[in-house]
Amino acid sequence: MTAESSIMMVSHGLYGILWMLSCFGQFLSEDLQFPGPANGAIGGSVVFRPDNPPATSDELIQWHFGPIPILTVQSDLTLIAPAYRDRVSFDRTTLALELQNLRLDDSGIYRLTVDTLTGETLLHVFENITNVRLTGPKEPLIEEESTANITSNGTGNITSVQWMKDNSPLSPSNSIIFSSDNRSVSISKVQRSDSGEYQCTYSNPISSGTAKLSLVINYGPNDVSIKGKDVVDLGVRVSLSCSANSEPAASFSWKFNGSDTGVTTDTFTIEQTDFKDSGDYECTALNSLTKRNTTKNHALLVKVGGGGKVGGGLSSGAIAGIVIGVLVAVAGICGLIVYLTKNKKIPKINLSKSGPARGGAQTRQDAVGDFHFLFSHHSITFYYITNITNTYWERAVIVTNCNSVIQPQR
Ligand SMILES: *[C@@H]1O[C@H](CO)[C@@H](O)[C@H](O)[C@H]1NC(C)=O
Ligand SMILES: *[C@@H]1O[C@H](CO)[C@@H](O)[C@H](O)[C@H]1NC(C)=O
Ligand SMILES: *[C@@H]1O[C@H](CO)[C@@H](O)[C@H](O)[C@H]1NC(C)=O
Ligand SMILES: *[C@@H]1O[C@H](CO)[C@@H](O)[C@H](O)[C@H]1NC(C)=O
Ligand SMILES: *[C@@H]1O[C@H](CO)[C@@H](O)[C@H](O)[C@H]1NC(C)=O
Ligand SMILES: *[C@@H]1O[C@H](CO)[C@@H](O)[C@H](O)[C@H]1NC(C)=O
Ligand SMILES: *[C@@H]1O[C@H](CO)[C@@H](O)[C@H](O)[C@H]1NC(C)=O
Repeated sequence: MTAESSIMMVSHGLYGILWMLSCFGQFLSEDLQFPGPANGAIGGSVVFRPDNPPATSDELIQWHFGPIPILTVQSDLTLIAPAYRDRVSFDRTTLALELQNLRLDDSGIYRLTVDTLTGETLLHVFENITNVRLTGPKEPLIEEESTANITSNGTGNITSVQWMKDNSPLSPSNSIIFSSDNRSVSISKVQRSDSGEYQCTYSNPISSGTAKLSLVINYGPNDVSIKGKDVVDLGVRVSLSCSANSEPAASFSWKFNGSDTGVTTDTFTIEQTDFKDSGDYECTALNSLTKRNTTKNHALLVKVGGGGKVGGGLSSGAIAGIVIGVLVAVAGICGLIVYLTKNKKIPKINLSKSGPARGGAQTRQDAVGDFHFLFSHHSITFYYITNITNTYWERAVIVTNCNSVIQPQR
């Protein structure tokens, strides 16, 4: 015997056999199925709609809230309880009941009966979540010293509390402890990595609210370092630059051989070194908030030719040697070009294309322009040239190089 046929039997005159009702009671309560518990917001509305409404014609249809009748329909007659008159609507086809202007006390069990078929569903009415706030520490937070308590607050029915830091979930750890209801978090002792934006979200099935709070962890100064030369030449400009890792930014002060210098910038500058500038430079970085300070020392030696060790690079002698070498090479190329040009090994520049000469006095007119004899050395003759036209710019580049190299002789 199937559940359905037994219901048919029940509906067709077997009312007296109550044991049968109780026996199939579990089937009866499942006759009309609902999608699951419904959630509503105070002031909002909700629709209870059975998944499997039977085809009805003249049956008795009833909606109850617990034991309280809401609505009774039979034939053309629809009866709505006075308490619900202005806030329910009913769809005869789907048997759906809409309940409007929800109140907290509407939470509970709603039962639909169609003759002997019945089914029930559950409603939760929630207060919307509003006014979510975060309260953080009032005092500045100092690394490895302070405890940061963040407390959340808000109104409404809160079913879950979630915390994020810099948009990633915040998880409990040795130093991060949540209260049992998750509404506050305690960070002890704070680290600089705890700086950031904290976010707390209260939610329930119908609403949520989020609050944010930024924490700044003050630290340092750490890793104080001085950048600058160790050995410098006499009479040069020298800068020593002090830096530190610090929140808020550190202030600096400088001592020389143990005495205050009055310099309170990150850079200590000597405009022109003197032998008496040799000695010990001490930079103190001070964080006014953490009240911590850290010092770093730097020895400076001023000596003649002391720039030699600069950056561990070339000595001034080597640099001079290179410069002279380059000069000689360029001069050599210039000489060679001039020599080849004069000996027709390179096509001469047609002067007619170069237009009128710019310079007034033309010492020695030549096909390439104005050559001004400079000096002769090891059978190479040096000239400098003026009056180069755009037409021969390629050669002019080479020649201009000569020009610039030998320019002081002009
Ligand atoms: C609660 O929120 C819902 C939707 O978010 C809205 O329809 C309803 O009016 C709100 N109720 C109150 C009391 O603010
Ligand atoms: C932070 O919260 C913990 C535990 O609730 C408490 O013991 C501690 O005193 C609080 N610290 C501060 C700085 O508020
Ligand atoms: C939350 O705020 C309410 C009123 O705004 C206040 O009465 C309550 O004490 C606060 N709770 C906490 C934990 O701060
Ligand atoms: C929602 O909060 C009200 C009081 O603010 C309370 O009476 C009610 O039981 C709560 N509902 C739920 C589902 O927590
Ligand atoms: C607190 O939050 C954690 C995850 O962040 C969760 O596992 C836990 O169930 C929550 N506790 C309460 C009481 O909400
Ligand atoms: C500073 O100290 C260095 C070495 O300690 C010393 O050679 C130098 O003369 C001192 N300079 C001054 C101006 O006191
Ligand atoms: C640096 O800190 C020490 C104590 O650690 C203190 O004696 C000194 O005065 C501080 N210096 C400055 C410049 O604040």
